[in-house]
Amino acid sequence: MLNPAARNSKKLDGSAVLAAYARWAPVYDLVFAGPLYWGRRAAVSHLNKLEGNVLEAGVGTGMSLPLYGDHLKISGIDVSDDMLQRARKRVAHRDNIQDLQVMDAGELAYPDNHFDAVVAMYLITVVPDPEKVMRELERVTKPGGTVLLVNHFSAQSGVRAKFEQGLERFGHRLGWNPEFPRSRILGRTQLELEHEETLPPFKLFTLMSFRKPE
Ligand SMILES: C[S@@+](CC[C@H](N)C(=O)[O-])C[C@H]1O[C@@H](n2cnc3c(N)ncnc32)[C@H](O)[C@@H]1O
Repeated sequence: MLNPAARNSKKLDGSAVLAAYARWAPVYDLVFAGPLYWGRRAAVSHLNKLEGNVLEAGVGTGMSLPLYGDHLKISGIDVSDDMLQRARKRVAHRDNIQDLQVMDAGELAYPDNHFDAVVAMYLITVVPDPEKVMRELERVTKPGGTVLLVNHFSAQSGVRAKFEQGLERFGHRLGWNPEFPRSRILGRTQLELEHEETLPPFKLFTLMSFRKPE
């Protein structure tokens, strides 16, 4: 029997993700403004305590962008231009948004050690190669800098685990891996996990804060 990672890698590929988010883009804000709000707010509150430049990978329609303090310089990337076009409209008047570019989080066109902080909200379970994305997030972060993830991670047992296993077959169409344990991204890089908390609604989401060693 295939493990979840192997099953998922058969279901999600780059073109499936692009097609899924082209479909999601027109209704994304309507569907996901509410359920994903707490995670965005928690992550950006954390980042607003820092200084410098921040990369938001998988910025989507940019719902988090208005939450950032003016003291931070924000770059956003997303693989879907359909999603990004909405982000650009949302922040046309904001000076702290430096650039919003179409880019694959698995192949970031930024130099090593470039950002004071990097954040990926609801991204790591929608990419075909999460380990590669984690390495890229680490690479572009300055030594001593912060990497923040907000995501849903699958349950190991119980009703929720069964439900997530059931959803797995729709992963390709949804552009999302419902069956994705947190262990899959831990210990794959030099990043040190400093803080972890579960978030509403119903503790469905987790915020993880990592530090890149000096
Ligand atoms: C669930 S949405 C989250 C969007 C946003 N972070 C939010 O809080 O609403 C996932 C986003 O990741 C983007 N994405 C998927 N694969 C990607 C990749 N390889 N590189 C960059 N962005 C990607 C999708 O296009 C989509 O906009």
